[in-house]
Amino acid sequence: MNAPPVTSHWALVEEYLKPIRPLFEREGVTEIMINGPHQIFIEERGEKRQVEMAFPSEKHLETTIMQIANATGQSCDAQNNPIVDARLPDGSRVCGVLSSIAPQGSSLTIRLFPNRALTTVDLLQLGSVTQDMLDFLNLAVQLKRNLLLSGSTGSGKTTFLNILTGFIAADERIVTVEDTEEIRITGTNHVSLIAPHTRRDRHAQAVSLGLLIKTTLRMNPDRIIVGEIRDAEAAAAFLQAINTGHNGCASTIHANHPEDAMIRLQTLLSAVGMPLAFVEKQVRANIHLLVHVGKVPSKGRVVLALAEVVNETVHVLWRYDHGRQQHVREPASFEASPTLQWARAVAHPLGARAWL
Ligand SMILES: Nc1ncnc2c1ncn2[C@@H]1O[C@H](COP(=O)(O)OP(=O)(O)OP(=O)(O)O)[C@@H](O)[C@H]1O
Ligand SMILES: [Mg+2]
Repeated sequence: MNAPPVTSHWALVEEYLKPIRPLFEREGVTEIMINGPHQIFIEERGEKRQVEMAFPSEKHLETTIMQIANATGQSCDAQNNPIVDARLPDGSRVCGVLSSIAPQGSSLTIRLFPNRALTTVDLLQLGSVTQDMLDFLNLAVQLKRNLLLSGSTGSGKTTFLNILTGFIAADERIVTVEDTEEIRITGTNHVSLIAPHTRRDRHAQAVSLGLLIKTTLRMNPDRIIVGEIRDAEAAAAFLQAINTGHNGCASTIHANHPEDAMIRLQTLLSAVGMPLAFVEKQVRANIHLLVHVGKVPSKGRVVLALAEVVNETVHVLWRYDHGRQQHVREPASFEASPTLQWARAVAHPLGARAWL
């Protein structure tokens, strides 16, 4: 991953972040949440708790956010631009909100960039997924099925997207599109497009996520990976990519369950004026697999459902059984699985696996 260059702006940010610096170094901390200068929480191994730390003043915290904006070339002021989304040089993702819209004081949320990305081995050990599910997903990626990952905020969507991109063959050309650089691609034929945040120059062309997705179509990609479908324009561009013959695409969306992910994508698309019946047909014909992730109290983050779209209907192949605290298969869904039928048709070695 290409981190932004460390400039004197960043040296200043570093200085302002000193009160919480020890949290960056603490093993197991994944998130730092600052609710005004005197209330700091962390997420450590999946648990959120308050820590005895504070910023010297509201002014100090506000200046920290403004300095982060400054270092990333964004406008930030109480009136017109009170929200800053950025990435620190170490890759950590930051969301800063000024007190003009946060009465308890300025707020800063930092998703720490993991020193080491979670691997399939980690996820298996944590019980987030089973080997069978990973094998099936590996097969789906190799067969260039289009995938949509869903879940709520911080449920592990991006982490799982990274796991899936690890199944892509090394010689494929991958174009990734994101708001904030989080996707880690190991292959060399990779182009990363990042949508800029607030423009300082009002005359400059607006570079939206949707525009970037459309641009990928002219870049001869084998794979288009979109960090997250956040708005209607991005949804329309993603649909255009997958219904014009680009297979093996993947993205994430905020949703409560796999069917909800489809509905949410359809709703976004109908917001740009596409007829609902058309949208429904296109989405259900071109999204092949759904991976829904979420937090469970005992295990942290797990794949709650792995589903396939069969004749426009969502069929769950595996789901997480909360009572038994393990993943269970839905045998009937495997019989109808287009992915398995296709694997057998092309004599893929995994197609012969006894999935049932
Ligand atoms: N299976 C897992 N087990 C343990 N920790 C995980 C797992 N998946 C993700 N995490 C951790 O959870 C945090 C959130 O993960 P991630 O960024 O992937 O979530 P997200 O759903 O993409 O969030 P957002 O909605 O904010 O984009 C990260 O710190 C990540 O390292
Ligand atoms: Mg994410």
